[in-house]
This record gives sequence, C-alpha cells and structure tokens, in this order.
Amino acid sequence: MYRKAGLWRGRRVSAKPSIDTGGAAYRPAHFKDTEKMTTRREFLEQGAATIAALAVPALARAATPRFAELKARPARVQLAPPTYPKTEIWGYDGAMPGPELRMAQGARIQRSFLNELPQASSVHWHGIRIDNAMDGVPGLTQPAVEPGQGFDYDFVVPDAGTYWYHAHNRSTEQVARGLYGALIVEEPEAPDIDREEVLILDDWLLDPETAQIDPDFTSRHDRSHAGRRGNFIATNGRFDLSLDVKQNERLRLRLINAANARIFVLSIFGMEGWTVALDGMPLSEPKPVSEVLIIGPGQRADLIVDVTAASGETAHLVRVEDQEGVSQVAFPVSGRAAAARRGSPHPLPPNPRMDISGMEKAVTARLNMQGGAMGTLDAATLDGERKSFRQLVEANQFWSFNGTIGMTDTPLVSVPVGETIKLEIYNDTSFPHAMHLHGMHFREVTKDAALGPFRDTLLMFGGETRTIAFVADNPGKWLFHCHMLSHAASGMMTWLEVT
Ligand code: C2O
Ligand code: CU
Repeated sequence: MYRKAGLWRGRRVSAKPSIDTGGAAYRPAHFKDTEKMTTRREFLEQGAATIAALAVPALARAATPRFAELKARPARVQLAPPTYPKTEIWGYDGAMPGPELRMAQGARIQRSFLNELPQASSVHWHGIRIDNAMDGVPGLTQPAVEPGQGFDYDFVVPDAGTYWYHAHNRSTEQVARGLYGALIVEEPEAPDIDREEVLILDDWLLDPETAQIDPDFTSRHDRSHAGRRGNFIATNGRFDLSLDVKQNERLRLRLINAANARIFVLSIFGMEGWTVALDGMPLSEPKPVSEVLIIGPGQRADLIVDVTAASGETAHLVRVEDQEGVSQVAFPVSGRAAAARRGSPHPLPPNPRMDISGMEKAVTARLNMQGGAMGTLDAATLDGERKSFRQLVEANQFWSFNGTIGMTDTPLVSVPVGETIKLEIYNDTSFPHAMHLHGMHFREVTKDAALGPFRDTLLMFGGETRTIAFVADNPGKWLFHCHMLSHAASGMMTWLEVT
C-alpha cells in the first residue's frame, strides 16, 4: 500500500486533512505504523533476506584529527516499538539523527570526518552556500573517503537558517541507513519565541519481524517508481515523539525532510502558525499555515507556531495520509505560558545575496526530465551509448535529463561567476521529483513573472514545467539532481559549472 505506484501521479496534492476536531480521531503514530509493519507482502515480493553482519574495517588512520571528529559508524538504536529488537543503523557519532551542529551566522565549521563504515562515504552540507571544495560530492568536488580514512571539512556558513548534512556517496543506502543530522545556523538576533524544536522527518523501510533495515537499496521497483519509501515513520528517530508545551507558548519548529523519497504532507492541529522560512531562507513575510504544508525530500520549512490548545489537550503536527490525519509529533499541553497570545510574528532577517538581478540578460537552459514507469522514454544515452528503454531497464537505469542518463562530461550550463541563469524544467514523467541545486539557492519564476521564495530544492509534480532563476555567484562544479535518492542513482543527476 505504501509503495502504491503513482500515488501523487500527475497532480498537485491538495488533500485536506480530515481532522476530527474533537481530537478523538487521532491515533498515535505507532498504531498505524505498527499495523503497517505487519504487512508482509512487499517483503515477500522482494524476498528480503537477513542483513549480513556489517564488517567494521580496521582503522588505518593513526594521526590525530585536526578538528573535532564527526565519525560515521554502525550502531544499534531502538527505532521500532520496544517489543522489537534494536535496529542496526549507520549514524554520525553512532547517533541517529547525528549530532546537531549549531553555530552563529558567519561562523566557521571545522570537522574531521572519519569513516568507520564498511564502504566509502562523504559528507554534504545541504543548502549551505559553501566553498565548492567542501561540498562533499565524490567525483566532482572530492574523492570518496574510503573506510578507515578521513576528510577535514572546514567552511564558513554565510546564511542563517535550517540546513542539514548527510552522506553523499551511495546516498540511497547511506541516507536510508541513518547518515544525516541537522545543521542550524542562528540569526544574530533571535526571533521572539519561547523555544524551538528541530524535527527531522524520515521513513524507514524495516523488516516487520526483525525491525532491521531492508537491505535492497537497488530495487528496480523503487528506482522506476516513486523511490524507496519506508513503512515506519519517525521524527528524530522516534515513532512516538511527544513534546510537552504550554498554552500560548510560541515555538519555532524547524522541519527537515530527510526521507529518501517520501513527500510529507503536513498540517497543524491545536496550534496556529506561520511559515517563516523555506530551505533555510527567510520569507519576506510570514505566511499563515492555513492548509497543508508539502515538504519534499531534502526540503525544510521553519514554522512559528502558537499553542492554542488548552491545558489537558494535545496539539499535533499532523501528517496527511490517504486523506486522513495521523499524528507525526504530539504536543501535550499543560498549563499556560501567558494569559494571551502574542501578535503575528515579524519576518526573520534576510540573508545576504537573496536578490536576483540580471533577469533580462539571463543565460537560459532547458532540462527535460523523462523516464520511469508509465513514462515517455523510448531510448537514452547511457555511458556514451544509445540504449533502448528495455536495455535501460536491464541496466537498472530509468531516468534521463535531456536524453542522457546520469552525469555527463560537460555541464548542463557553464557560466562565468556573476551571470544569471534561468532554467526551464519540464517534468515529462509520471512521478514527482525534488530537484536540488548544490551551492546556490534559486527562485521560481512564476507564470506572472513574479519570483517565488529563495530555495535549494524544487518539488515538481508529473507533467509540470517550472522555471527557476539564480545568480551564479558561487564558483565551482555544482550538482543538480533529484533528491529522491533512488532516482538520482538511476539517472537523475547533472551539474553546472560556474567559472
Ligand atoms: Cu541533500 Cu546532493 O544532496
Ligand atoms: Cu526524482
């Protein structure tokens, strides 16, 4: 059921949560998820086997690391309900999510990454307008870090906001195994809130009996359809995350979608709120959360919410699923923080370089996305050779950008630093895709030539044509790919060059 093909196919999601305002319709998240975990069909279909014991390589590195370490290693955590065994994950510093990295805007991050995994890895700092050499893309900006080896990441964070870091080698597997964490850059002046919570949303594909991660990371079905979608949904690694709040308390919620492919459709209940930032970057005006909030893989949203539910009630961050609201995070209310609510929040202070100038003389390019199940792709170039769709299926490659599968020798666009780029993207497939640009943020150019919010990941539904524009102000080789990680692994990857 959760792998239903084309769930979002060819339409914008406008599902409204069917919320019983009495609150009685709420089932704790684990109820539904546990129920799902007993669904064996998908596992049987795949013939999911037991997980082979993960060999931890002996460490070759003797020298002491230059900076504070960030160590990727296997660990065991209680992910599923306590009646299940612990789950073997891969985590930064053995934690899942990895340690929260938090610093002031303009500060410098220095971390010695150490790889204690049985395969090569790297760290990507998603959404940071970073120095290219620190971007963490094997083969483009650095070599993959072999087991037992390390890499020193050292960069400045120019923008305040909600970002995250994750593995960027064999990402379909490594992110699904838990290699990610939040990277929070604080505004010089904190907004007027009582407290904040970082909420990392993920879905896990677990064996319903052993609670171990399904080790088939190259499933043909996942690659050709909506990507690897989990059967067990968690926030910060907890299926039952519950945070005590007070009535009239004002919270900042930093939402991060770390899932391989799941689009989270969210709503709030017992709270009133505003979206104040998307993909780290502040909106010029806070936007009331009236309907649903759609967060694609890789995307973030910062909300400011006021708890309106009364003491003794429970507010919720709600996940909309099959037209039904399910609690993603519960906020039991006890007591009152203040006699009355505050007024509407102010916008967050803007980050530098958020304007897009030079639109009239922008360098334009087009990206046609094709492929996947129920798509229009008949043939495409793979490793320099023209292949029929049937041959592509055999190679387990499904998606093309402008007729080519995967990375090309030449970039999609190459411009001198400072040029403005306008990119028209046509999603000629039956599935949504979350297109993520490394190193720079962009704005969507809407039909009436207005500019949308400043983002790093664009969620596109089947059949849509959308245009983005950005100033190529960060020199280097920048990846541009679908953040549905099985799609990236089966073709949806290209790059741009700023010289
Ligand atoms: Cu968040 Cu290329 O990735
Ligand atoms: Cu995709």
